[in-house]
Amino acid sequence: VTTVYLGLGSNLGDRQAHLERALARLEQVPGCAVRAVSQWRETAPVGGPPQGPYLNGAAHLETTLPAVALLAVLKEIEREAGRDLDAGRNQPRPIDLDILLYGDERIDSLVLQVPHPRLAERAFVREPLLELGVDPSRLQAAVRPALLDDPEAFAARCAAWIRGGCVTGLVPTMGALHEGHASLVRAARAECDRVAVTVFVNPLQFAAGEDFDAYPRTLEADLAILAREGADLVFAPARGAMYPEGASTRVSVGREAEGLESDSRPGHFVGVATVVAKLLHLAQPTLAFFGEKDAQQLAVIRRMVRDLDVRTGIRACPIVRAADGLALSSRNAYLTSADRAAATVLYRALQTARARFAAGERDPARLLAAAGAVLDGEPRCRVDYLELRREADLAPLPPGPIEDARLLVAAHFGEQGRRVVRLLDNLRLGAIEP
Ligand code: PAF
Repeated sequence: VTTVYLGLGSNLGDRQAHLERALARLEQVPGCAVRAVSQWRETAPVGGPPQGPYLNGAAHLETTLPAVALLAVLKEIEREAGRDLDAGRNQPRPIDLDILLYGDERIDSLVLQVPHPRLAERAFVREPLLELGVDPSRLQAAVRPALLDDPEAFAARCAAWIRGGCVTGLVPTMGALHEGHASLVRAARAECDRVAVTVFVNPLQFAAGEDFDAYPRTLEADLAILAREGADLVFAPARGAMYPEGASTRVSVGREAEGLESDSRPGHFVGVATVVAKLLHLAQPTLAFFGEKDAQQLAVIRRMVRDLDVRTGIRACPIVRAADGLALSSRNAYLTSADRAAATVLYRALQTARARFAAGERDPARLLAAAGAVLDGEPRCRVDYLELRREADLAPLPPGPIEDARLLVAAHFGEQGRRVVRLLDNLRLGAIEP
């Protein structure tokens, strides 16, 4: 016999009668006994079209039914009460029955999530449960996103999603999240039933003397953003969990990693490919989401996934820019206000080249000269590279007029003796981005 807590709600017709009829119906089901019922509470609707207030409460049930069988019973009771089970989310309904807790079990499939994912955040669910004597720590355990630091636990949670029939999405990050990362999570949410975000400042992709130690670590703020964006799970391992003593295997990368970033950050993409391969192996996601700002990283990861037969689809998401055009980056936080203002030169330079391209210019040297002249006009900007590459795979351009190409820039900002910030940006010339 399993102790179950159900959530009940109604906002159509005689609400109290619907709730009481549902409980009476449950009593008739073999293997189900209602042990206690909370008070009914009137609550405002959450989301959906304009609609009347709900009457909500919770019930303590004992049952011999497996969770999925109990769910089928609840759906049948909802259908009998006249609920349209095909209506979308947050529609008005005569009755809504949810399994909030099913013993101590964690169930995370396409059809059923227990503990109920919104259990902790909604007072009209939380309060009736506390009234029925549920230990508050059990509500805490339902807080989303769940935070894990153990690779085994992370892999197990992702595997349960896959077994439960979910399309799963992975958003790898190094934290210090901003609107650009939030857009990746939203893209993942739009395509996936479950979304995991990883937060790990990967030592392998930083060379000695780079900003590994100073890289911003803002886990609390990151979790708040991820809760707002509806991530289901955050995996934030310690260094030793990802690279235990003796870990020495590296993913070797090829042509896509040549030049551009690698010229000033040799070994960087070996570190990126190694950690991304590990994260993809752990999570086995249907899809993984990366930003186009790191265009060369994207090309390296696409190649790695093809070459190593990783069965994850790679999604590229557009660069998110500040109102003045600067591409969002966790490193923007390091800029002084003068350098922050100067850094808009990157996008202005890219746009200048694109305007020339749109006007019919196809000579790569002249396009580069146009962008370069804009960069040269900003004394605070020291260009690391400005290069045109083939759009499809970022390979060097063949000689002759260009067709579809991406212009990539990296530059340093900051005065001698102060922190120097290296920023990246890029723009496709062959198609107009929004
Ligand atoms: O783009 C990043 O933030 C990192 O390079 C990544 C992909 C999370 C790997 O550490």
